[in-house]
Amino acid sequence: DKGNHRHFMEKEIYEQPEVISHALSHYVDLASYSIRPDIAGIDFEHLKGLAISACGTAYLSGLVGKYWFERYARLPVEIDVASEFRYRELPLSKDQAALFISQSGETADTLASLRYCKDEGLSIGAVVNVSESTIAREADAVFPILAGPEIGVASTKAFTCQLAVLASLSIAAGRARGRITAEEEREMVRHLSEMPRIMSRVLNSIHDPIEQLSRELSKFRHVLYLGRGTSYPLALEGALKLKEISYIHAEGYAAGELKHGPIALIDETMPVIVIAPHDRFFEKTVSNMQEVAARGGKIIFITDEKGAAASKLETMATIVLPDVAEIIAPMVFSLPIQLLAYHTAVFMGTDVDQPRNLAKSVTVE
Ligand code: M6R
Repeated sequence: DKGNHRHFMEKEIYEQPEVISHALSHYVDLASYSIRPDIAGIDFEHLKGLAISACGTAYLSGLVGKYWFERYARLPVEIDVASEFRYRELPLSKDQAALFISQSGETADTLASLRYCKDEGLSIGAVVNVSESTIAREADAVFPILAGPEIGVASTKAFTCQLAVLASLSIAAGRARGRITAEEEREMVRHLSEMPRIMSRVLNSIHDPIEQLSRELSKFRHVLYLGRGTSYPLALEGALKLKEISYIHAEGYAAGELKHGPIALIDETMPVIVIAPHDRFFEKTVSNMQEVAARGGKIIFITDEKGAAASKLETMATIVLPDVAEIIAPMVFSLPIQLLAYHTAVFMGTDVDQPRNLAKSVTVE
């Protein structure tokens, strides 16, 4: 049932504050602002490394997770798309753990990667939406994302719920490894707990500007997304979302890679979507934007209030989100990215929930 929504995808985008709040209640204790001790399942304290494998959007949430585990827990993460991971003959050891992320829990390549790691004797964690799935059954520890059924082929709420779970796990890992103090944990969990309310506000405030912008965007054939740090996986996710439902050719790049190739493509026919909260990378991303502007490129700037005030560049559109804590920025910044892809596809008249050639769950190699 789509409720008042035109498509399941739209419904699932708007459900995010509610399902994230539900998912978080499983991982955090709101009375003490701490991660629940019983979620562990992985012995983070003694780990030498973590291997993460997944496909598509689930892979991109894992890529955000890599930044978090490395930054907050000083835990080295090896990550790859499952179709490569399973054949790489990656040397692994028993003092590493492996994490598999899958909405459906049935993706063939992800399952094969899991079995590879199991054969190598690693302890296996699964971040899944479908708790009765094969991947959940074969894992040692299951971390449910509790997003509820996701019907739209383009993953939205599963992505942000995966992020919420990975954020919680990285805080748990940081605590276990003595890299996060109890005080810092409380602060981060407080930010997580405020997130659903912030997401609701953002969904309301960006609807009109995004719809307007989507009408413009639907006239282009090529789009480039740029971001740094955790905004880099978001750039990849933005491009994936747009191409899969609007069939506009989109690419995501780490902003710092711009001058190593993609800058050659920049002209007024290829808008550049820059995802840049006012974080420690902001100035660097702004200089990449300047390079785009100097070549006549059109910029769509997705930033926060501080970022909007700090940049003097002319843009085709600027989407301004509230200033939020670093740990929740990837979830909050997912919203404009999802809605932009959604409305652009609606303007193009594509079958948003059932895009051509795609299946919700890829159970063959
Ligand atoms: O069920 P899974 O999470 O394992 O699926 C992985 C990908 O097939 C999936 O995320 C795909 O990329 C989506 N269509 C993206 O929107």
